[in-house]
Amino acid sequence: MIEYVLLKIDGISKSFPGVKALDHVAFEVGKGEVHAVVGENGAGKSTLMNILSGVYAPDTGILCLDEKEIHFKDPRHAQENGIAMIHQELSLANHLSVMENIFLGRLKRNKLGLVDYKQMYKMCRNELECLGVNDIEPDMLIKDLSVSQMQMVEIAKALSLNARLIIMDEPTSSITKKETEMLFAAIRSLKQRGVSILYISHRMEEIFEIADNITVLRDGTYIKTLKSIDTTPKEIVSLMVGREFNRAFNREVRKVREDEKPVLEVKGLSYGKKVKDVSFKLYPGEILALTGLVGAGRSEVVQTLFGVTRKDKGQIIFNGKEIEARTPTETIGLGMGLVPEGRKTQGLFLKMKVRDNITITNLPQICSMQFIRKTEEIKKAEDYVARLRIKTPGIEQQVQYLSGGNQQKTIIARWLLNSPKVLFLDEPTHGVDVGAKSEIYEIINSLANEGVGIVLISSELPEVLTLADRILVMQNGRIAGELSRENANQEIIMEYATNQMNKGMEQ
Ligand SMILES: Nc1ncnc2c1ncn2[C@@H]1O[C@H](COP(=O)(O)OP(=O)(O)OP(=O)(O)O)[C@@H](O)[C@H]1O
Ligand SMILES: [Mg+2]
Repeated sequence: MIEYVLLKIDGISKSFPGVKALDHVAFEVGKGEVHAVVGENGAGKSTLMNILSGVYAPDTGILCLDEKEIHFKDPRHAQENGIAMIHQELSLANHLSVMENIFLGRLKRNKLGLVDYKQMYKMCRNELECLGVNDIEPDMLIKDLSVSQMQMVEIAKALSLNARLIIMDEPTSSITKKETEMLFAAIRSLKQRGVSILYISHRMEEIFEIADNITVLRDGTYIKTLKSIDTTPKEIVSLMVGREFNRAFNREVRKVREDEKPVLEVKGLSYGKKVKDVSFKLYPGEILALTGLVGAGRSEVVQTLFGVTRKDKGQIIFNGKEIEARTPTETIGLGMGLVPEGRKTQGLFLKMKVRDNITITNLPQICSMQFIRKTEEIKKAEDYVARLRIKTPGIEQQVQYLSGGNQQKTIIARWLLNSPKVLFLDEPTHGVDVGAKSEIYEIINSLANEGVGIVLISSELPEVLTLADRILVMQNGRIAGELSRENANQEIIMEYATNQMNKGMEQ
């Protein structure tokens, strides 16, 4: 199957307190192949990549590079041997330029011993051009780049360090579709140069588009490696979850009746340059999707409504009364909830237990009837941990030790438990595995059926098209179009989102 084995992973095990993250994992990565590693949240993917890139040492097992056994002392040692990792959380120096980042710690010097910016500029330019990147200049500052541009810089940096294996852990989780295409073009050119890629993602379409081989991990064990041309997404998913998986989710479109009153009405909402004159109504029991390209202002709309940022102009009418939405404390008190995008920075208390993270917004109630609440709460928290399949040794575990996807599930559980009247969900299924995804759909659906008004922000159009009753498409801070689900499809949404149908609306 593989012409030249670049890296042999042989019997790798790794345990953390209470968790066997990897259990005798063994497979091979060929030269110049794109090798996807898939598995449910907590299957051990990131842990394995951390071992391959020298962050962790395995408890047992060995790695062979070019048929020679090798033990990485640290990430630098792995890098010297040609293994580079593009992190889920990018690790560039924000206030330095692109080229300074690429040559960090090994600045080029001329004969006089001065830093040779000219040469670095040229080399950097070259590297980026080979990747097909033409919108990044070597002297641009990292802080001015988009996430996808930063990724390209990380890849260019890896190449300039002569990387032969580049590890990408969920590289597309916060970039647009178009940027994903650019990343894939870069991956293809890396392949041509004989560079191998280990690629982690929860998105099946991507994996089948880019990967030559797919390795499935389940509960820390190696299940199987398949050629992507010989298998199907369905087979991969069943191997991941260990059983037949074909839960078809179905929600009937909820139509707004004429005499109904909205639970939330927004009139002429504006905030800085990001939200411009946004108006809409949300009815109890309705799922309203807010879609559009990344950066269209969707997150800013819900953050303004929730009181994370303060509106400049406009009216917010909640349950028939105008509210100010000054702070989240105020809006939570009224009965709103927000699952924010980007689990690390917002919302989670990493050093606190899973249980406390789930129950934290209920704190005022706990104080009054402490004992009763406590047992009831533990039961509910455990129930959600089971329903969402949050992989943790127990609800007493600190959230920082959970895998990325399981952290996301924890914050969703918090808001489900809190049963608000209006719930804002900002990219709720980012980084979540297929099984949990459909469980989250079920829960959102049943919350809506119980009368909760839901605003769903999602860039994944299939998600919007299965869940939403109505769809608002945002473009450049404004609402560019409204569609009912029955009248919507991916093409129409994209046309609104990219400003091909609403040229006249800008004035
Ligand atoms: N430093 C740590 N301490 C304790 N447990 C850990 C630590 N790192 C990972 N784990 C546990 O090891 C298991 C594997 O985690 P890992 O991050 O490798 O999963 P993953 O496959 O990358 O999942 P995801 O798709 O959610 O990113 C999980 O149960 C996780 O909670
Ligand atoms: Mg991970």
